[in-house]
Amino acid sequence: MSSTQPKAFIDPAELNRAIPLSDQEFYQIRDWLRGQSGIHLADIKKSMVVGRLQKRLKALQIPTFAAYLKLIHQADQNAERQTAVNLLTTNETYFFREEKHFQFLEQQVLPAVQSRDNFKVWSAAASTGEEAYSIALTLGHLWGQQSSWQVMGTDINTAVLQRAQKALYPLDAKDRIPLHLLKAFCLRGIGQETGWLKISSEISSHVSFMQANLFSLQIKLPLFDVVFLRNVLIYFELEDKKKIIQNVVRQLKPGGWLLVGHSESIHGYHDDLKQHRPSCYQYMPASRS
Ligand SMILES: C[S@@+](CC[C@H](N)C(=O)[O-])C[C@H]1O[C@@H](n2cnc3c(N)ncnc32)[C@H](O)[C@@H]1O
Repeated sequence: MSSTQPKAFIDPAELNRAIPLSDQEFYQIRDWLRGQSGIHLADIKKSMVVGRLQKRLKALQIPTFAAYLKLIHQADQNAERQTAVNLLTTNETYFFREEKHFQFLEQQVLPAVQSRDNFKVWSAAASTGEEAYSIALTLGHLWGQQSSWQVMGTDINTAVLQRAQKALYPLDAKDRIPLHLLKAFCLRGIGQETGWLKISSEISSHVSFMQANLFSLQIKLPLFDVVFLRNVLIYFELEDKKKIIQNVVRQLKPGGWLLVGHSESIHGYHDDLKQHRPSCYQYMPASRS
């Protein structure tokens, strides 16, 4: 007897079916991602790759990873390549993460600055922007909004940058922002932004975002006084980490600071970087004899 119940448009069993990823396909995706971004996927990341990409395959009605690999190798598929990179990067971040760096900025770096007007900070793996706004909140509190200091956030992932540009965060972000900064520079969203925390325009007007690939920096960037390069080097192998450090140091003003994640030592990666304390390095190009 045939059922009179309407059938789901897409069979739920089909939606839940895992698309198999062979070892060979995994290695091809790994090599491809490394070529695009420098990111190295260890063998244990195979199930992560399935988890992150298979929804995309299903949305495109592509039945196998082999067919998807073919697609992203086609010359006219830049947008799909970007989508795949967006899906494969890990973007965890939060306000005032590793807060000692913000204290270092406030207590060691800023008091020695001579010109506030040309002061530039780079959040070089900015993700959804919390790091860039944490820097800007620190600067806004100490220097006010009158001087023309700037914070630039860049990332390889275009989806996170779109979110960063909105300066809007879930309300529970407030728990990580120091109270005096929350009071001075954060707003409760209204209308369409109800339920969100908004960074005030006094702060966000000093912050800009753009895409940049640290592995092959092709865009023209200014020279910076301070670079936050945190919790991104862990995704690269040693030689590629060194290459990224070379690329980043080229963007530092002499005497400028490079801050890396607390677990990411770059000791010995660059002759002109002097370690001031763990994870805080100063670019001293004249220091070689
Ligand atoms: C874990 S998040 C770190 C965010 C922030 N720096 C922090 O410490 O909270 C790492 C970010 O690095 C970005 N990333 C990975 N490879 C990159 C590359 N080659 N160029 C630029 N950004 C990259 C990812 O897209 C991701 O948003």
